[in-house]
Amino acid sequence: MAGVTGTDALGVRHEQEAQCGSGLRGAAVTVEVRMKVNGHTVTVDAPGGERLLDTIRERLRLTGTKEGCGVGECGACTVILNGQAVNSCLVLTAQCDGAEVVTVEGLAEDGEMHALQRAFIEHGAVQCGFCTPGMLMSAKALLDANPHPDREEIRQAIAGNLCRCTGYEQIVQAIESVARQAYPSEDRGLRKDHGEGGCEADDG
Ligand code: FES
Ligand code: FES
Repeated sequence: MAGVTGTDALGVRHEQEAQCGSGLRGAAVTVEVRMKVNGHTVTVDAPGGERLLDTIRERLRLTGTKEGCGVGECGACTVILNGQAVNSCLVLTAQCDGAEVVTVEGLAEDGEMHALQRAFIEHGAVQCGFCTPGMLMSAKALLDANPHPDREEIRQAIAGNLCRCTGYEQIVQAIESVARQAYPSEDRGLRKDHGEGGCEADDG
């Protein structure tokens, strides 16, 4: 079994044996990958074929990120990787050495919800909630890059995130409401310059 080291703040048990459950995929050859997740450095020994989605959910126990289709179609697994919203089901963890990853758990700060999280609640943009983590991360990536997008830019940014419940209007309104506010240009846990060791994503 592969080993995992990490930090307490992430809920990762130090030197634990990895949970090699059915969702952890890949070949027997493991790759040591060191990355920053929600501001905390973690090191994982991941099989070469393991998806970032599985590393996040099953090794790091950050289960806010969801798996819907598993093939890059639904956006439920969206995380921010080196400043870009990506489908984590299409990214190999082995590609991510040196990368910075932000998941939905990284949005709140000091127990305070992110402005986007508050806006989703206030605008009724959450129904079953399955799409919500991915929507939030796509919205955050947009606002980090473009703090005041127009409606069309918002629609484009969430075009890869499917929602079966809301009809999207409340989601767009929620993001618009934050876009009308002063948005912090520097956000916690996000590195704009990709620097050394950034990993490549299979999707945009
Ligand atoms: S789980 Fe659907 S795009 Fe990743
Ligand atoms: S709130 Fe149910 S899928 Fe979007």
